[in-house]
Amino acid sequence: MQRIFSGIQPSGIPTLGNYLGAIRNWVGLQGDHECLWCVVDLHAITVFQEPEALRTQTREMAAVLLACGIDARRHILFAQSSVRAHAQLAWIFNCIARLGWLNRMTQFKDKAGKDRENASAGLYVYPNLMAADIHAYHATRVPVGDDQKQHLELANDIAQKFNHDYGVDFFPAIEPLILGPAARVMSLRDGTRKMSKSDPSDQSRINLNDDADTIALKIRRAKTDPEPLPEHVGGLDGRAEARNLVGIYAALAGTDHAAVLGTFGGKGFGPFKEALAALLIDKLAPIAAEARRYLADPAGVDAILRDGASRAAAIADPIVAEAERLVGFLRP
Ligand code: TYM
Repeated sequence: MQRIFSGIQPSGIPTLGNYLGAIRNWVGLQGDHECLWCVVDLHAITVFQEPEALRTQTREMAAVLLACGIDARRHILFAQSSVRAHAQLAWIFNCIARLGWLNRMTQFKDKAGKDRENASAGLYVYPNLMAADIHAYHATRVPVGDDQKQHLELANDIAQKFNHDYGVDFFPAIEPLILGPAARVMSLRDGTRKMSKSDPSDQSRINLNDDADTIALKIRRAKTDPEPLPEHVGGLDGRAEARNLVGIYAALAGTDHAAVLGTFGGKGFGPFKEALAALLIDKLAPIAAEARRYLADPAGVDAILRDGASRAAAIADPIVAEAERLVGFLRP
């Protein structure tokens, strides 16, 4: 059975993008993989987080993952900072990755923006920590949204260089799993920008805890163009907002763009948006309710994370200890 690792930052409430691009696929992969699901708080502090908010958001993220169907008994759910191996291996990888590789990372450029000089060093080496997350478990498959693809290529480059420099075949190649018709969910206000939990505008996204009225309103207000929906997929070219909403519908309904256009093509956005809002409410409301149920017992969620951390450490510690031996650290 192949081992899977994936992570999500507790830097806000998870969005529909996180759900369709990642979490929903994670749930589906649990049947035939050994899975590690990680709330990546070390990554979150690459931009400042209020300490109390970070603690709360880490617990809330775990509750949402459980509510979505992450199985913490058969698999492992834990917070990244509670397994030391991640930070230990990340340091080694900081010494493997080349500045030239990191300079090509588009996400750093997006996140650092114009004020690059003021970005944290952690934000710059962020992909090295991601590589450590995965390789600390010798995981071979990594389900993510489209925006993480470049980081996973870097994780493969790091593994290859480590193996080459130390003359070993220690870290395996990883395969990104980018699945479904909504691997890149875009902002509801601007079809050229990714939907993100850290976007300043709440209208740009659907949060997994939005209530029915909020979802309906956000979809009604979602940016579109004046043309009716096209009858064929080719007609979505150059219509980023229409493509985005059709992709969201397709993912939620378990179908594809063509089938959605088969039903709604040729009609205006009015009836389509109504159907989309109803579908969203139908799929998301039970998740929000279940997450609230988990959060009614915060100590219970913390206990799940604690148990996950000790099982995760049992896998990662010997792998990272071996990496340290290969590097030449003396263990007197
Ligand atoms: P994060 O927290 O930004 O997002 C978590 C997952 O959600 C996906 N995602 C999206 N998918 C489709 N459309 C969107 N608009 C959208 N926004 C987010 C992301 O691709 C991701 O799969 N660096 C990672 C977390 C991480 C990680 C790892 C992932 C840390 N270590 C190791 C895999 C393996 C991140 O910031 O995800």
